[in-house]
Amino acid sequence: MHQRYGKVLRFWMGSSDLMVSISDQDILSQIASTLHSRPKAAKKALGWLGHESPTFKSHEELRTIRSKVMPLLMGESLKYLCLVGQERTKRMLDGWKTATDAVEVASDFSEITFDIIGVALFGQEFSSTDLGQKFKKLFVHVLREAHPRSEEVIPSFWDPKYWQWRKSISRLQDCAEQLIKQRRQALNMNKRKDLLSLVLSEKDGSGNPFFSDEQARATIVTFVFAGFDTSASSLAWICYLLSQHPEVQARAQDEVDKVLAGRLPEFEDLDKLNYLTCVVKEAMRLYPPVPEALRALESDLEVGGYSIPKGATFVIPISMLHEDEQIWEEPRKFLPERFTQENGKDHPRYAYLPFGTGSKSCMGARFAMTEIRLVLAMMLQRFSLQLVPEQEVIPEMQSIILQPKYGLRLNVVTRNMNGTRGQTLEYSASAGVANA
Ligand code: HEM
Repeated sequence: MHQRYGKVLRFWMGSSDLMVSISDQDILSQIASTLHSRPKAAKKALGWLGHESPTFKSHEELRTIRSKVMPLLMGESLKYLCLVGQERTKRMLDGWKTATDAVEVASDFSEITFDIIGVALFGQEFSSTDLGQKFKKLFVHVLREAHPRSEEVIPSFWDPKYWQWRKSISRLQDCAEQLIKQRRQALNMNKRKDLLSLVLSEKDGSGNPFFSDEQARATIVTFVFAGFDTSASSLAWICYLLSQHPEVQARAQDEVDKVLAGRLPEFEDLDKLNYLTCVVKEAMRLYPPVPEALRALESDLEVGGYSIPKGATFVIPISMLHEDEQIWEEPRKFLPERFTQENGKDHPRYAYLPFGTGSKSCMGARFAMTEIRLVLAMMLQRFSLQLVPEQEVIPEMQSIILQPKYGLRLNVVTRNMNGTRGQTLEYSASAGVANA
């Protein structure tokens, strides 16, 4: 529609929901950071996160939550994330090594990103206890049903599946509550690095817990929701693009070989992988995992000669901004060099928004960039990627995430270490988080 009607357009979803999508840089810079509320449709689709979720907080409350949570997602917890990521990725890649056929990587990424975020947020118990496994099963059921359910005008009370879904939501909340209870009782909570322990240890000005159990539960469940399909989608699109651009893949492998010299990547290594970082950013430009951000207009707005009434939904069309010909030369081309230190500075502020913008922007951007580069570096050390010839790759919105419609089957070809013949890469260091 933007291609047909230009940078400002309006349309209706159904008979009453006015949507206004704007890809004009001037208008975005005037208003994008002043809109703080999610539209009703998002609230309907995400109600299952719990009403204490950061998603539903007012601007002021969210500011306080972000100021408490964002520092917890830096430094030590990113190092812990790397330990968890190493272990899970190694396990996945060991499976690839023995695969006799092409590998369905999109579903493998979905599996490991769920495990990585689960352990990084809840601690080791997440993957090693029945409670963690139960949480995972319920979460996936609730998530996969949530989007179609949110599109129903009248909830389908007559459908037993509707009631199963409702039951899964309440069982999921119970599970998260039990995980929190166990953690509050754990003796060594203040020494642990998982996000749940950090959140529960936060204090307010009078030394009391900052987060109630209900707030902690909704915050952590929101993080699982926001952080697993997004990272999995990003990994899948990066691998697809690498399989289509063998010269880019070879250059990224070369960098990984030089920087890591056969070691497992550590947190400190990731910022040295400059070219790989450009590859990730450019892939997120072409295939942003979240291709649009929505805001509710809470009062009438006059901007750029347009009048937009209160109640309209404002769309920030991320994928359109990423392909704006006035900003990006040959926008459909995969050119990681666009994001080198010298070139990356030149883009206008609202030209590149894979993690959204303003007060509702992604809280896990650093977390995601750490996780994605870690998984990719380990993968490129050991394998080269080739798309299987019959694989059709079509982007499709599944819920709010851009996914390859028919998955992504790749031939994963074992590499020789540093290009030398005969010896395949095996890590001498053993990856492990048990003692972290
Ligand atoms: C490649 C991976 C990811 C991408 C592309 C991504 C992108 C986004 C986008 C576009 C938004 C909405 C921003 C807006 O409305 O302006 C968002 C929100 C959010 N993201 Fe991410 N994200 C990713 C990974 C993560 C991870 C790993 C975490 C957690 C560790 C996370 C946590 C969040 C949270 C908490 C929100 C706010 C949710 C809300 O207010 O409803 N994200 N993300």
